Amino acid sequence: LNNGVARTPPMGWNTWNTFGCNINETLIRQMADTMVTNGMRDLGYRYVVVDDCWFDPNRDSQGNLQAHPSRFPSGMRALGDYLHARGLLFGIYQSPMDQTCAQYFDAFPGSTGSLGHEVQDARQFAAWGVDYLKYDWCSPAGSINDQVAAFAKMRDALAATGRPIVYSINSNSIHEKTGPMRNWGDVANLWRTTEDITNTWNSGQTNGYPMGIQNIVNINVPLSSYAGPGSFNDPDMLEVGRGGMTDTEMRSHFALWAIMAAPLMAGNDLRTANSDTLTILRNQHLIAINQDALALQAVQVSNDQTRRVLAKRLSNGDVAVALFNQGSSTTTVSTTAAAVGKTGSSFTLRDTWTNATSTTTGTISASVPAHGTVVYLVSGGGTVVPQPTFRLRGESSGRC
Ligand code: GLA
Repeated sequence: LNNGVARTPPMGWNTWNTFGCNINETLIRQMADTMVTNGMRDLGYRYVVVDDCWFDPNRDSQGNLQAHPSRFPSGMRALGDYLHARGLLFGIYQSPMDQTCAQYFDAFPGSTGSLGHEVQDARQFAAWGVDYLKYDWCSPAGSINDQVAAFAKMRDALAATGRPIVYSINSNSIHEKTGPMRNWGDVANLWRTTEDITNTWNSGQTNGYPMGIQNIVNINVPLSSYAGPGSFNDPDMLEVGRGGMTDTEMRSHFALWAIMAAPLMAGNDLRTANSDTLTILRNQHLIAINQDALALQAVQVSNDQTRRVLAKRLSNGDVAVALFNQGSSTTTVSTTAAAVGKTGSSFTLRDTWTNATSTTTGTISASVPAHGTVVYLVSGGGTVVPQPTFRLRGESSGRC
């Protein structure tokens, strides 16, 4: 979406994965303070997103949304001010339906979705200093046309406020097994491509609840041609630091999200994050790959179901290459400089986890543990555009 924001994938922290509906202003302020002191803010994690359950279950007599009185007694404007004073940005959650997801699933009372209040709510968010809206379709009801109309209505209402607001949508239950039913780049800055993530490597789902890391990668990788400045596939928030996966799997998750130009929204309790978790979230090479100005999503170079190779061209002419082992034992994953779009005869490989460098005349390979991902920055020589190994529905050619 060409609304001036999210020219690279948004980065930040969101309440949902760890806290669900158990949120309040003290918790969010503590998380914001932690993002300042642990260096995450300065690495680019700027959006603090208050997900579902922040609101009073009733609108006021003028139909305005209100902060939940006991969870957010200082109000949402004050929370936004607190974040802005610390160099952070303020995100909030709403739904285009009668009810938010938590309301729909009876986890929270009320029917205070934005349906019929779109312009009023957009103005309210702008007045509170909101910088990011997560807008979540939460019902199996409705067609793709209903969704386009509903999501476009809030897009237009946000634009009319004059405040730059990142627009994040979730078409939720209207996903196909292969991902979203359309390219949402004309409607939103980011759009979910799968059902909800969980802190599991493989849930066995294709696109059903809940999704593991491997399951999401399978859907999100083929959507690479949809991504670009202002428009990103959203394979859901990070599960780094939430348990349920090995350190290798968590590194792989982060590396793959980074190279897929996914929004990097941490979802763990930052106050208690251990050093392994912080090492992952603060990997500067991977963050730079994710935030590269070309805003490309890695294309698939090869996939034999065990060994998967992705390549992302960067603005300085380097190519980031992910060597991903989807199998259950250590294996060598290989590609070549030519296959990832490099021309020439001598290249430097920098390992983004160890920072070690090596040189090659063309072979790019590594021994990768089960479920691991090695990411190299490949420099030297010239760069051409790597072509994906597949075509999206109805496409006659790859990325150009
Ligand atoms: C949906 C979304 C989640 C979260 C919850 C809140 O399930 O996909 O990310 O926002 O709603 O209820």
